[in-house]
Amino acid sequence: MIIKDKTVVITGGTDGIGAATALELKRQGARVWIIGRSSEKGDRLVADALREGGVGSLNFLQADFSLMSNVSKTVEQLQDAVPRIDILVHCVGILIAHKAYTSEGIEKDFAVGYLSRFVMTKALVVQKLLDKESIVVNVAASSPKIPKMAKLEFNDLATVEARFGMQSHGQAQMANDLFSLEASRRWGLSVIGYGPGSVDTGIRRELPPLLVALIKPFFFFSTRKPQQVALQFAQMIESQSPPSGETWFFHKKGRFTPDAFVLDPNRRRELWSASEALEQKALGYGAYVVA
Ligand SMILES: NC(=O)c1ccc[n+]([C@@H]2O[C@H](COP(=O)([O-])OP(=O)(O)OC[C@H]3O[C@@H](n4cnc5c(N)ncnc54)[C@H](OP(=O)(O)O)[C@@H]3O)[C@@H](O)[C@H]2O)c1
Repeated sequence: MIIKDKTVVITGGTDGIGAATALELKRQGARVWIIGRSSEKGDRLVADALREGGVGSLNFLQADFSLMSNVSKTVEQLQDAVPRIDILVHCVGILIAHKAYTSEGIEKDFAVGYLSRFVMTKALVVQKLLDKESIVVNVAASSPKIPKMAKLEFNDLATVEARFGMQSHGQAQMANDLFSLEASRRWGLSVIGYGPGSVDTGIRRELPPLLVALIKPFFFFSTRKPQQVALQFAQMIESQSPPSGETWFFHKKGRFTPDAFVLDPNRRRELWSASEALEQKALGYGAYVVA
């Protein structure tokens, strides 16, 4: 898909991978809408984009995506702002090692890093802002080779809800890969599941300093800059996006086939049920229904 003149929405677009991608796609002529929690960062990025000039545009919507009610409000704002979305990029996420639940009763890492993406994508499909011509890029760890993560099941809602900290972060990453596959199958979207590998961003800012220091050496030689990831995004969207109804997975070296635990249709069905139950818990009668 040619990026110029396309409408792009990026969740988690105020920092790290999302911010670099927003500026790159804007430079290539897209009309970009970024969503993030920090007004200061959002406004600064809009000012940077204006200073750069060029053909594209960049706009900012402030929202705290730990709450699904805010995700719904953002979808309403987008309904007023854009006729449809050509490219939706999900970069929103946090990394926490402590126990934290939102006021809607959802574990925070899972709420921000996965459930907000499920609720938003579903709402955009229901409101017809996303359609079979749209591309969704879902950034996650993508088919991680961590056996513990691979074993995480979604068949028991109580277990899904009880996970917290790093386990919940792993659960959000796993859920995103399963969701990437299921979103194309159910809604006919063209989906890219993307695992960026280690990227030099502030994603670890809420981890205890000792843990950060312990992790750092493992990624020292393989860490990339957000701008490198943004350039790969642009290239994937332009020349490697899947046809409607398919999901293709990529990491920094290119396209790959995910492992069997991601391809398992039962796990995807179980995740879907758990996601709808959590959406219902957060939004009550405000939950979206796909016709
Ligand atoms: N960096 C890596 O090595 C790496 C590796 C694999 C996967 N990933 C995944 O890639 C995604 C992007 O990560 P990143 O490294 O670019 O992280 P980042 O620099 O920390 O950026 C995260 C983005 O998410 C937004 N965000 C966080 N909490 C939010 C909330 N409650 N409501 C709305 N927006 C919120 C942030 O907005 P504000 O700044 O405005 O709060 C920011 O724009 C994450 O899902 C992460 O798990 C990253």
